[in-house]
Amino acid sequence: MINIKKNLRDIVPYRVNDKPYKVKLDANEGCNYMLNSKLNLDNFKPQLYPDSDAKQLRENMAKYYGCKMENILVGNGSSELLLTTINAFCDIDEKVMTFEPSFSMYPIYCKLSNLKNLTIKSENNYSFSVDNIIKRYEENKPKVIIICNPNNPTGSYLKKKEINKILDKTKQSIVIIDEAYIEFGGESAVDLINNYENLIVMRTLSKAFGLAGLRIGALISSEKMIENLWKVKLPYNLNSVSQLIANQTFDNLEIIKQHIKMIKEERKKVMDLLKELEFKVYPSMTNFIMIKSDIKNLAEKLENKQVLIRDFTKDIEDHYRISIGRKEDNDYMIKKLWEVKNEDR
Ligand SMILES: Cc1ncc(COP(=O)(O)O)c(C=O)c1O
Repeated sequence: MINIKKNLRDIVPYRVNDKPYKVKLDANEGCNYMLNSKLNLDNFKPQLYPDSDAKQLRENMAKYYGCKMENILVGNGSSELLLTTINAFCDIDEKVMTFEPSFSMYPIYCKLSNLKNLTIKSENNYSFSVDNIIKRYEENKPKVIIICNPNNPTGSYLKKKEINKILDKTKQSIVIIDEAYIEFGGESAVDLINNYENLIVMRTLSKAFGLAGLRIGALISSEKMIENLWKVKLPYNLNSVSQLIANQTFDNLEIIKQHIKMIKEERKKVMDLLKELEFKVYPSMTNFIMIKSDIKNLAEKLENKQVLIRDFTKDIEDHYRISIGRKEDNDYMIKKLWEVKNEDR
């Protein structure tokens, strides 16, 4: 048996829950809009390679994100773009600074690329202080810093003026701001690419656009940075079906805006109901909510009632993350939470 690299052997694989479910609120996915309207595959040519430059998609994205298409690179999910970026910039053993808790894949990308991952621990209520970030940056001078904003799994958020303050002090490094959830709250840093050549903003169509299954991510940065990243982008990395459907989605932005509005309203409602159930509920600018619960094995108890939520108890004691879904899904989840709560007395 030939083993994988030594530094990868202790990684716990990113496995998704495949238990049967009625309501799935464990992966921050959105809802499906396109299949409700009419999806048009007339121009689909499976025999041809996709447009490797994804020109039409980048044009549509540029309009939506408020930049030029020359500022955008697309990939097979923002996951691929994140890995490609750190691989492109970091040599073995260089430092990548991330936050704790934050998106669980960042440390894995670092391991894959033989990089040192330094983390900045969160403070009160799982928020992050800008002064502490700058202090830790100056002590360690990492090659790359990855800021998930708003942050997964905490839902916490750094304001634009705080991001500006960080960018002013981190010009010697690549600063990646992962805005996977920005449509649900907060102000994007995309326009700052004109002021900071070292800034990379990651966006995805997996969350607010509800297209997680199509794997479409966007990397937005200065033209100079994008030019360099073209050198390492895999050819044909975004398949034709994904490009075709995504382009049609940009013709339906009104539906997406309505969906985002609905999620924000549901988020407020679910938060209030969770508080009534006496959970500790953290503020959220995303399409999910982090809670603390004294009920042991809460995720498993809900899973037995066919409701999936994300169990974070291995990383943060007694903490769980619940995605906001459609009204009927959220109502069902709350109903099942009441049952679990009553059974636990
Ligand atoms: C913070 C964050 N970044 C990136 C991703 C990956 O997104 P994509 O589906 O575009 O690969 C996720 C997915 O959950 C995420 O939570």
